[in-house]
Amino acid sequence: MNIKLLFTTAILITLSSCSNDSTSDLVTPTNNAVTIKYSSDIASIINSNCLSCHASPPVNGAPMQLTTYDDVKNAILTGGLIDRISRAQGSGGMMPDAGNRLPQATIDKIIKWQTDGFVN
Ligand code: HEC
Repeated sequence: MNIKLLFTTAILITLSSCSNDSTSDLVTPTNNAVTIKYSSDIASIINSNCLSCHASPPVNGAPMQLTTYDDVKNAILTGGLIDRISRAQGSGGMMPDAGNRLPQATIDKIIKWQTDGFVN
């Protein structure tokens, strides 16, 4: 048996058995190297998903405003904001109220903003 031929064949079989025809298992990870900031990341998320109720002054029965850096930071520290946005779709108290749960990547961003130390 030609040992080189055997070796080459083994490599070819190994290479051809690697395929990437599925993209469903690909995830978009939060880039841990990049610091999340209120000004560039968080404010726009809150603006488009929360301020229809948590405005200044709050409307539709919302108990507090979320219009400033301090508002959002305090809601995380003392108002259970992360818990509310993390609840399952349709479960009581999920925020946005009566709306669609935020995409997980967006929730992860807000969690990382806290982990990163609430950079403004
Ligand atoms: C359609 C109106 C509406 C929207 C949109 C909305 N909320 Fe609320 N939110 C409410 C109401 C009403 C309450 C009070 C009832 C309750 O506690 O579930 C509330 C309560 C909360 C509370 C609890 C406050 C506390 O001290 O108990 C948090 C935190 C919160 N919302 C965060 C958010 C965030 C973050 C968003 C956006 C992702 C959001 N909400 C979007 C209406 C809304």
